[in-house]
Amino acid sequence: MKKVIIATKNKGKLAELEAPLKELGFCVETLSADYPEIEENGTSFEENALIKARFVCRDLHCIAIADDSGLCVEYLNGAPGIFSARYANDYTLLPGETKDQANNRKLLDIMQGVPMEKRQCAFHCAMAVVFPDGKELIAHKTWEGRLLFEERGKNGFGYDPLFLDEELQLTGAQMEKSVKMGRSHRAKALQAVIEAFRTLEK
Ligand code: IMP
Repeated sequence: MKKVIIATKNKGKLAELEAPLKELGFCVETLSADYPEIEENGTSFEENALIKARFVCRDLHCIAIADDSGLCVEYLNGAPGIFSARYANDYTLLPGETKDQANNRKLLDIMQGVPMEKRQCAFHCAMAVVFPDGKELIAHKTWEGRLLFEERGKNGFGYDPLFLDEELQLTGAQMEKSVKMGRSHRAKALQAVIEAFRTLEK
């Protein structure tokens, strides 16, 4: 059975990547809690995904898979984009507030007064797989939606409560995990790299 390490400590991403990889027959390992933070100093989702997957592959001598993803809001010329995870680093957390909640609060502050018809946004994901022999696979996928004026739903993570899938009229946080996995940027990118992986093995 092929062993794959998922190069992330983000619990939301892990929850979405681990199960499908296991179902496909991979032996999946994750990074230990004390694994060093990998500096994401790339200028695109693709560069950052490759930085993470290359680092872990070379360090642990194993196939590594990493995604870099984020929410791009059209009205903000693509922000927060690759800075999605650290968007509200300039905000002071309110008592009991998580980083994800602060990111959502900042985005709502900045988008205050912007009408619904100008609130198009999309999640982007670059998924990279790096092999010990130097081979690399990369896939890009998006999930289009609209930014709500307030949070809806409790599932998922990150910007899910603000992101409306217009076809289903549900936010990412109102969907069951299995529904999100049928539509999300990350699920589609994972599918694409797995297909490429299978082709490589033939
Ligand atoms: P990364 O770990 O640098 O790729 O940052 C990803 C960040 O983008 C997360 O911390 C979230 O803020 C946001 N993000 C990416 N994918 C999703 C998603 O599926 N739902 C909600 N937020 C997401």
